[in-house]
Parts: sequence; C-alpha cells; structure tokens
Amino acid sequence: MLRKQIAAANWKMNLSFQQAEQLLDSLVAQSHSLSDNRQVILAVPFPYLDMAKKKTSLIPHFFIAAQNCYSKKAGAFTGETSADMLVSLRVTHVLVGHSERREYFSESNQFLAEKIDASLAAGLTPVFCCGEALPVREAGTQNAFVAKQLSESLFHLDAEQLKKIIIAYEPIWAIGTGKTASSQQAQEMHAAIRSELQKKYDAATAESISILYGGSVKGSNAAELFAMKDVDGGLVGGASLDAAEFSTIIDALK
Ligand code: PGA
Repeated sequence: MLRKQIAAANWKMNLSFQQAEQLLDSLVAQSHSLSDNRQVILAVPFPYLDMAKKKTSLIPHFFIAAQNCYSKKAGAFTGETSADMLVSLRVTHVLVGHSERREYFSESNQFLAEKIDASLAAGLTPVFCCGEALPVREAGTQNAFVAKQLSESLFHLDAEQLKKIIIAYEPIWAIGTGKTASSQQAQEMHAAIRSELQKKYDAATAESISILYGGSVKGSNAAELFAMKDVDGGLVGGASLDAAEFSTIIDALK
C-alpha cells in the first residue's frame, strides 16, 4: 500500500480572520492537482475552522485540522473544545502533542494518550507530534526519548486504531529556528520510529503510517527532505503562512 504523502500547515496563533481568508483564497487559486496518495492538511486557529472548511470543501485532498482539542467529551470545561465539536464543524484532523503544547501548557505523554483516545472516538485523525529538545540530541539519546513518547501516548492502541494516526517528528531545536535537521538526521529518526512501530505492532502496520518531518521546512529544502525513504511529507509552521512558499512545499511531495 502506498503511504499518504502529506503537506500539513500549522498556522499556530497567527493571522487575522481577513488575512486567513486571503491566504486560503490564494492557496485555493493555485489549484494543485493532487494525486490520490497526496494530501494537504491545514491546521488553522479555532475561530477560523468553519470558514476554512467552507473555502476548501470543494478542493480534492484538502483537509482542515484543529491545532488542539480537549480529552473530555463534554461538560464544565470553560474555554476548551471537544473532538465532537470539531467533527460537527466537519473538521477531520487534529494536532495532538505539538511541542508548544507540551512546553507551555505542560501536556504530558499520559494526557496526550487521553486526547488521542478522544480524537479517535470522535472519528478525527490525530496528527501526533513528537520530538526531542537540543540537550537530548546533544546527549545522543533522541531515539530513546522519542520511543518513550510513542509508547506512552500511542502504544495502548491496537493496530487498527494506530493505522488511523499520522505521526509528525519535529525536533524542537529545529522549530522556528531556521535550523533544519539534515535530510539524513530526519531519515534516521523516521526509520527509528518505523522500527519502534514494527517492534510493537508488525511490519505492515509500520509501513502504512505516514511520518511527517517538521522544523523549519521551507520551499527550498522540502524536496530534499521529502525525497527520503521514510519521510512522508512535512508539518510546516512559518513557511505555511505564505501561499507561494507553501505551494512550493506541496509540489515537493513525492
Ligand atoms: P516551523 O514550525 O516550520 O516554523 O519551524 C513547525 C511546527 O512547529 O510545526
């Protein structure tokens, strides 16, 4: 089975509503003709989800994602957004465990496991983010660090559930820093992640899961990163805020 090749945008907390409309209009105007195994996923701020869905609903292979959701189904959780609410807006994907959520909002591997369960139960596709900070990379323990993130947040799932997940490897030292992991470093970690999946599940499951690279992906480096065997596209922050730049990244998908 061909793995899905995915260009995912993470707008983070950027853009006014009007700027978001303009960016979507420009992206839609680029009219990418995406083959069946390619997807574009746009993770936009909560207040723009409905507008983004409406603007892209007729574009094949374009999906809208939330950047977060809560682990509980409903109730007295002021300010939170449930997975069911996202589904009611026809949102199909959700980022879970972005390093900024882990760092600024103290989201633990265990809490993220609950969010994964809530997302899957609602029928959303979680994009599970993992990755190590610089001191871990310098100590050379990044593979064990990421393996622990996977095992504590994902490995309670059965193989059928796991197959619904997209994984994004984002080394924290490469996020927003302009410092990209080399294509070899990305490939090494993606292969290590796939081998963890194979050990816990089986080869067919491991081979079926898309693993995206994130961290200073740009139009100029996307093709080299995406050419790596185990790199199935990217999760793009800064460069996704520019329609022309992000379009170059979409065109760089395998
Ligand atoms: P960046 O962000 O592309 O701006 O480095 C990536 C991310 O945080 O998802």
